[in-house]
Amino acid sequence: MKKVCIIGTGYVGLVTGACLADMKNRVVCVDNDSEKVKMLKRGKVPIYEPGLDEIIRRNTAAKRLSFTTNIAEGVKSSEIIFIAVSTPPKADGTADLSSVAIVARSVAESMDGYRLIVDKSTVPVKTGEKVAETIKRYNKKNVDFDVASNPEFLREGSAVNDTMHPDRIVIGVSSKRAAKILRELYGPLKAPVIETDIKSAEIIKHASNSFLALKISFSNALAQICELAGANVMEVVQGMGLDRRIGRAFLNAGIGYGGSCFPKDVAAFIKIAEEMGYDFELLKLVEEINREQRVRFVKKIEETIWIVKDKTIGILGLAFKPNTDDMRSAPSLDIIARLQHEGASIRVYDPQAMGVARGMIKGVKFCKNAYEVAQGSDALAIVTEWDEFKGLNLDRLRKIMNHPIVIDGRNIFDPAVMEGKGFIYKSIGR
Ligand code: UDX
Repeated sequence: MKKVCIIGTGYVGLVTGACLADMKNRVVCVDNDSEKVKMLKRGKVPIYEPGLDEIIRRNTAAKRLSFTTNIAEGVKSSEIIFIAVSTPPKADGTADLSSVAIVARSVAESMDGYRLIVDKSTVPVKTGEKVAETIKRYNKKNVDFDVASNPEFLREGSAVNDTMHPDRIVIGVSSKRAAKILRELYGPLKAPVIETDIKSAEIIKHASNSFLALKISFSNALAQICELAGANVMEVVQGMGLDRRIGRAFLNAGIGYGGSCFPKDVAAFIKIAEEMGYDFELLKLVEEINREQRVRFVKKIEETIWIVKDKTIGILGLAFKPNTDDMRSAPSLDIIARLQHEGASIRVYDPQAMGVARGMIKGVKFCKNAYEVAQGSDALAIVTEWDEFKGLNLDRLRKIMNHPIVIDGRNIFDPAVMEGKGFIYKSIGR
């Protein structure tokens, strides 16, 4: 049993805290948002994540998991302090590390004995050095400490499962003591541990996410070639993906990646490289292809229905991917804004993201379900591949639409089936 303090109860912090508590550690989660802490204390989870409510409830009841706004309280009672605060992008693409800096200072000021400070937030390489310098500066009692990097690779929607069954655990350390503590903490997970220096660990996170984004943009570029050639991108990536050196995952063409990680991390990695004197042109193209993919999707809608002005377009799916209510950098935002700019009326539905979406999208009709969206729409655009949409009654859908036009940004339907049912059906790369 370890005593752990997690600072920042966003996606990463909350899930990590809950899972570490479930592994029988004693965890204090700290956040400066008092409303959020109040909510969590009442057992209300501010994000939608399968299984998370239950784990939080179970471990709060067992008194292994608690919440507070007081950093000092968390630091004084714990040996391991995780920094999991957000590192949002600034206008120039670099990460805003001010929260990390503030937290590092508060941690230093509260330490009354050895502490291991572990950075879990996604940060540029060399942040560990800065955190160590900051802690040294404010470490008035001159206690022993170590800094480590332990990047998180969880995906939204499967965050609990990813945390409990990771492909690997990366620990960047500069002392044997830090390595030992982290190996003991993660031992029960039985996952391969990559032990390296702090800088390499920091780079592993940006490199992994950028590489995944690259796979997606590669497939989206392939989709263009397949459309031009009259080939089928889904079969092409299947054929490629069976090569074990390539792998099938993250090769789905569509409207590109969104979310809180890929857009931010790719931009940050380009900047990090630039600041050190390397022009990461390859990643700039990954971004460019991703941006273009959204524009092309709107063009596809225009090409199919011709004049968009005064037409009603139904949008199925708003979240950046299924099984989450997260709308950060969601392609839907861009696509809806472009269609509205062209003068279209928009009807929308998402199984989980409606609440979040109401605060972010204006001038659209929020519907109760996919059929209400389709009712009176001149075309339907599929933006997020929720299972709920895959099971829609296509005959019913066709009957209630003004025109049976479906533009599928996620390739969830079989073109032959759709055409057989009387739809004008367009998808990506086939
Ligand atoms: C990602 C990483 O997977 C995770 O390891 C990291 O810690 C955080 O960033 P997440 O943002 O939750 O996780 O989403 P993910 O499931 O990876 O999907 C990212 C985006 O890529 C989504 O917009 C998704 O639609 C898109 N995507 C994914 C594709 O367009 N095609 C694919 O083949 C796979």
